[in-house]
Amino acid sequence: MSGKFYITTPIYYVNDKPHIGHAYTTILADVLSRYHRAEGDDVFFLTGLDEHGQKVQQAAEKRNVEPKQHCDEMAPRFLELWDKLHISNDDFIRTTEQRHIKVVQNILQTVYDNGDIYEDEYVGLYSISEERFITEKEAESGEFRDIKKLKEKNYFFRMSKYQQALIDHINDNPAFIQPVHRKNEILGFLRKPLGDLCISRPKTRLAWGIDLPFDNDYVTYVWFDALINYVTATGYGVDEDSYKKWWPCEYHLIGKDILTTHTVYWPTMLMSANMPLPKTIFAHGWWLSGESKMSKSLGNVVNPLDLIEEYGVDPVRYYLMREMVLGQDANFTMESFIKRYNSDLANDFGNLLSRVSKLIEKNFDGIIPNPLKNSDAENIIQSSAEKTVELIHNLIHKMKVNDAIEETMQFIRGVNKYMEQQAPWKLVKEDKESAGRVLYTAAEALRIGTLLLTPVMPHRTEFVLETLNAKGTDLHWGGLKPGTKLKQHSPLFPRVNVKKETQKQTKQLKKKTITIEDFEKLGLKTAEIISAEKVEGADKLYKLQILLGDEKRQIVSGIADHYSLDELVGKMIVVVSNLEPAAIRGVESKGMLLAASRKKELSLIVIDGDKIESGEKVY
Ligand code: ME8
Ligand code: MG
Repeated sequence: MSGKFYITTPIYYVNDKPHIGHAYTTILADVLSRYHRAEGDDVFFLTGLDEHGQKVQQAAEKRNVEPKQHCDEMAPRFLELWDKLHISNDDFIRTTEQRHIKVVQNILQTVYDNGDIYEDEYVGLYSISEERFITEKEAESGEFRDIKKLKEKNYFFRMSKYQQALIDHINDNPAFIQPVHRKNEILGFLRKPLGDLCISRPKTRLAWGIDLPFDNDYVTYVWFDALINYVTATGYGVDEDSYKKWWPCEYHLIGKDILTTHTVYWPTMLMSANMPLPKTIFAHGWWLSGESKMSKSLGNVVNPLDLIEEYGVDPVRYYLMREMVLGQDANFTMESFIKRYNSDLANDFGNLLSRVSKLIEKNFDGIIPNPLKNSDAENIIQSSAEKTVELIHNLIHKMKVNDAIEETMQFIRGVNKYMEQQAPWKLVKEDKESAGRVLYTAAEALRIGTLLLTPVMPHRTEFVLETLNAKGTDLHWGGLKPGTKLKQHSPLFPRVNVKKETQKQTKQLKKKTITIEDFEKLGLKTAEIISAEKVEGADKLYKLQILLGDEKRQIVSGIADHYSLDELVGKMIVVVSNLEPAAIRGVESKGMLLAASRKKELSLIVIDGDKIESGEKVY
C-alpha cells in the first residue's frame, strides 16, 4: 500500500540564526518522512529558506552587508543545524535561486493573464514587522510594531473572487486544514468578506525581491513569492513529470503563526493559477517559555546547538517530539527535558538494553540464546509487539506522534516488567533454557521497540541495532538471530545528574540576579521639578530643572507626549542621580528620571505625600 509522500516545512526567514521553533517543525517533518520511508513510501521532504522581503533586507542593513551576501552567510547556519539534527531532507530551497524566481514570475504572469491582478491606489497602515497593511483595529490592538501610514499605487490579487470556492473546498475536504480547531478558525475568518491581497512592493520602498514580470518598478510581496517554493521544488515548469508526480503535496507542516497565509492566500493563488491544492495543511502549536512564545524578537529562545552539544542529538529530537501534543502549545523547560531524558531514555530504554546484554554476556557468552518454544508470558510479549506495531502505524497516520512515542515506551516498559517477573538472573541457575527464552524474547522486543523509535532517534537506535546484530531487520517478530554475538557497548543514554544540572542552572540564574550592593550603586534619589521647557526641534523631549537637596541640575526626558509643562512643576520624582552625564540632542542631561510605561502609556514615579524632601535616598 505504499505511495508517494511529499511533505514540506515552512521556509524560514534568514533574518536571524535558527532556533528551537525552527528545529521543531523540521524534526517533525523528518520524523514523518522517516516513518513513511520505512513503510516503503516514495518520500520527498522539502525545507528551505525565505530570503526576500523587508525583514531580511533590514537584517542585512543592520549588519552593513548586501542582502544576498547576508543570505549566503545565514544559509550555512541552517544547513549546519539540519546536519547536526540528522535531518534527511531531499531538497533545500532558497528563494533567491534562479529556479524559484522563474517559477514565481511564471505563476504571476498566469494569474495576471487570467485577469486576477489589478492596479489600485491604496492608503493604509502598514506594519513593517509583519510586512503587510493592517486594519485600524489591528493597529489599536497593540500587537503590531513599527506601524506607518502609507499611500501607494500597487498591484492586487483578486483573492476575494475565490472566497466561496475556498469555503467549499474546506467543507468538502475535512483533511484540508488540520487540526480541526484550526479549520474552524479559518472558516470563522472566512465568514467575513475576504479582501484582495496587495502583492507588490514599489522598489522605492523595498528593492529586495523578485521583479513583477509585468512591471519592473515593483518587486513581489514576500508571501506571494515564498509560498510558491512548494511547487518550485517539484520541478514545475521545468520537469513536467516530476511536478505531476509530487504536486500536490500530502502535508504542509506549519506553525499556527502562519495559518492564514497557508490556508487562505496560498489556496486562492493556486486556484487562480489553475493548480491543485495541497492535501493537508497541518498547523502545530508553539513552544512557549513560561507564558510567551519562544521567538527571535523576544530573545527567550533555546539554542538547539547548545542542547545537542550537551545531551546529544537524539534526546533533543525525542523531547521535542514526545513533549508536544500536535496542535497544542507546549512549554519548554530544562527541568522537563532532563526528566524525560532520565526516565524514558536512560531508565526505560537504556536500561532494557544494558540488562539484556549484560545477562546474555554473563550467562551465554554474549551469544543470543535460542528461544525454542514460547510460553504464555512470551506469547503476551509477542502479541503486544505486534499490536504496538499496528498501533504506531495508525497513530503516525493520524499525526499523533507524541502518542506513538508514548505507546512505544509503554511497550518497552512492559518488557522491563516482564524481565522483572521472569527474573532470568535467578532462572538461569535452575533452568538455563527458560532463561535463554526470556532473554531472547526481551532482546527481540527491544529490537522491535528500537525499530519503532528509529524515525525519532535515528542515531542511537542504529547503535542498539548494531549491538543486537540486527541492522536491516524489519518489524516482524523473530528478526533477531539466535546464535549471533552481541556487540560490547557503552551506556545508551548515560543518566544526567540532576543535582549537577540544577547547580549549573542556579549559577546561571545567579548571574541574572543582583546583590543589594549592586542595587545601591544605582544612586536613586528624590528630586523636585522646579521648571520645565520644550527642547527645540525635538517634539518628545522636555528639559527639566530639578533640585536634589541643595544641588540644582538639568535633565532631558522624553515625556512630552505624556505630561504638559505645567503639570510637571512641583512634582517630587525619582531620579538615577549618578548616571553618567549625556548630551541629548545637544542638550546636557545629568541623571535620568524613573517612569513606568506600557506600550504608548507612561506615568512618572512620584513620591507620595509631602514628608520627603528632595535629595533623599530611595530604596
Ligand atoms: O514565518 N514554536 O518564517 P519564520 C513552534 N518565512 N514553532 C515555531 C516557533 C515556536 N516558538 N517559532 C518558530 C516564516 N516556529 C516565513 C514562512 S513559508 C512559505 C514562509 C516555526 O522564520 C514554525 O514552523 O518566522 C513557524 O511557522 C515557523 O517556524 C516560522 O518561521
Ligand atoms: Mg515568524
